[in-house]
Amino acid sequence: MSGHKSVLLEETIGLLPSREGTYVDLTLGRAGHSLAILEKAKGSRLIAFDLDEEALRESRERLLENGYQNFDLIHANFAEAPSILMEMGIDGVDGIIADLGVSSPQFDEGERGFSYRYDGPLDMRMDTSSPLTAEKVVNEYEEAALSRLIYLYGEEREARSIAHSIVKHRPLKTTFDLVEAIKEGKSKKSLLKKGHPAKQTFQAIRIEVNGELDSLETMLKEMPSFLREGGVMAVISFHSLEDRLVKDAFKSLSVIEGSRIDGPLPEEAPYRLLTKKPILPSEEEMIANPRAKSAKLRAIERK
Ligand SMILES: C[S@@+](CC[C@H](N)C(=O)[O-])C[C@H]1O[C@@H](n2cnc3c(N)ncnc32)[C@H](O)[C@@H]1O
Repeated sequence: MSGHKSVLLEETIGLLPSREGTYVDLTLGRAGHSLAILEKAKGSRLIAFDLDEEALRESRERLLENGYQNFDLIHANFAEAPSILMEMGIDGVDGIIADLGVSSPQFDEGERGFSYRYDGPLDMRMDTSSPLTAEKVVNEYEEAALSRLIYLYGEEREARSIAHSIVKHRPLKTTFDLVEAIKEGKSKKSLLKKGHPAKQTFQAIRIEVNGELDSLETMLKEMPSFLREGGVMAVISFHSLEDRLVKDAFKSLSVIEGSRIDGPLPEEAPYRLLTKKPILPSEEEMIANPRAKSAKLRAIERK
């Protein structure tokens, strides 16, 4: 089985209740966090989502091999989790986790097109049945739209010249074609900097292909209301755009703004922020798993 080292595993599970109940894993991956939840809250029911059918298949095996049967694995975007849970008749859960982004097996299979390190097709879809691929984005979007998304989703300062170079090199066929076009669009100075020159642009295109930020916003708006009293929602993000959405959503649920000193006592916010500052991986974890380097964990608890 292709491996995935779960990030901030103990820290995340440590925040969740240990009572038997219903737990939702919004990003099943290879079931690392899911298994740890079931080990901690023994006898619990797990409901887990993933866009990637391979992840669902492998995790099903893994859960069964470990002796668990009380689970539902669902092939869906986590933005749809609220309506799916309602349809299942679930109106309260004890814990919710989301470990965002792409898993190591997705990155490490050149065929999936996520990585600038392997030559592969321009795909980047987590859900291989969805219509929008990286190939369509790089070959069909107008230059201005491409430049805007590279700037916004990649936080890439040289977005304009990169978009220009991509358009000039059309049609692009493989990830290495894209890497070359990106390099040509970057200044000499920035090519000398640490880190891969295509990292930000690949991130941007991946976010666009999978509609990642829209799904995250919807999920953050709707999932917390499923928490029962004492239930916890924990989210691990991997870049600043994700983290900002998580931070703002959790803050608005746990802080009542704008109460005046001479006004009536403010209503109590229904959630407690468990992480005033995000929890970061330890040095050891970052050394053992470079993917963990940018991870940030935030959590809220239903009062
Ligand atoms: C970082 S991995 C999760 C790893 C998992 N926690 C583990 O320990 O094995 C993220 C997973 O979430 C899935 N994913 C990302 N965005 C999603 C979304 N909007 N809806 C459903 N699944 C999503 C990806 O396909 C990937 O398998």
